[in-house]
Amino acid sequence: MNQIKISPSILSCDFSEIGSEIEKLNNSGADLIHIDVMDGHFVPNLTFGPPVISKIRKCSKLPFDVHLMISPVEKYIQDYANAGADIITFHPEATDNIQRTIGVIKSCGKKVGISLNPETPSTVIENYLKEIDLILIMSVNPGFAGQKFMPKVLEKVKFFRSKIKSENLNIDIEIDGGIDFKTAPLAIKAGANILVSGTTIFKGENNISENIKNLRKQ
Ligand code: DX5
Ligand code: ZN
Repeated sequence: MNQIKISPSILSCDFSEIGSEIEKLNNSGADLIHIDVMDGHFVPNLTFGPPVISKIRKCSKLPFDVHLMISPVEKYIQDYANAGADIITFHPEATDNIQRTIGVIKSCGKKVGISLNPETPSTVIENYLKEIDLILIMSVNPGFAGQKFMPKVLEKVKFFRSKIKSENLNIDIEIDGGIDFKTAPLAIKAGANILVSGTTIFKGENNISENIKNLRKQ
C-alpha cells in the first residue's frame, strides 16, 4: 500500500490565530494543508478568498491542497493559483466543461483534483483519469466540518483504487469528511492514500502531532 499522507483541514482551526495555527502544522507530520473554499452558493457556507490564502502562504512551505466548493469555478482558478495553491480540486457540478476546467488548472502549472460528492457517481470522471492528479472522495456532503462519515463512499474508493492499479495510473485518492481514529483505518483499507481531517486534528484528544500520527495508523 502507498504511504499514507495527512492533509489537515484548517476549517477547524482557531481563526483568531490562523497564522500560528498553520505554523503548528509545519513540524507536526502533516504532508499537505487542506483549504476548504466555500462560496455560500455551491455549498451553504462561506470561507476563504484568495487574499486570505496569499497571506497564510507565508506561514508554511507545505503544499496547499485547495478544495474549491464554488460555482462557477473556472473564473476563480487563476486567482487561487496566484494566491499559492499547489493542488486545485473542483467539483464536476461546478463547471459546464470538465475538460476545459482541467486545462485551466494545468495552464496555471498546478496539480488537478476532482471531487465527488457522496451522491456523484464514479462514471462522471472516468474519461478524465489520465489527466488528473487526485480524486477527492467526499465522505460527507460538503459545507461543514464535524459531520458524520458516510461508509457507503468506501465502494467508490475501492473502485478507483482497483482502476488505478489495473490501468497503472498515477493518481492520489484523498478522502474528506468525518475522518477520525475509527474511520481512518476503513478509508485506508479501501485504498485512500491521503486523509483530510479537520475536527480530529484541531479539536481531537491530543495535540496536533499526536492526532496526525494516530490517524496514520492502520
Ligand atoms: C467539508 C470539507 C472538509 C471538512 C472536514 O465540506 O470539505 O474538508 O473541513 O472536516 P471534518 O474532518 O471535521 O469532517
Ligand atoms: Zn475539503
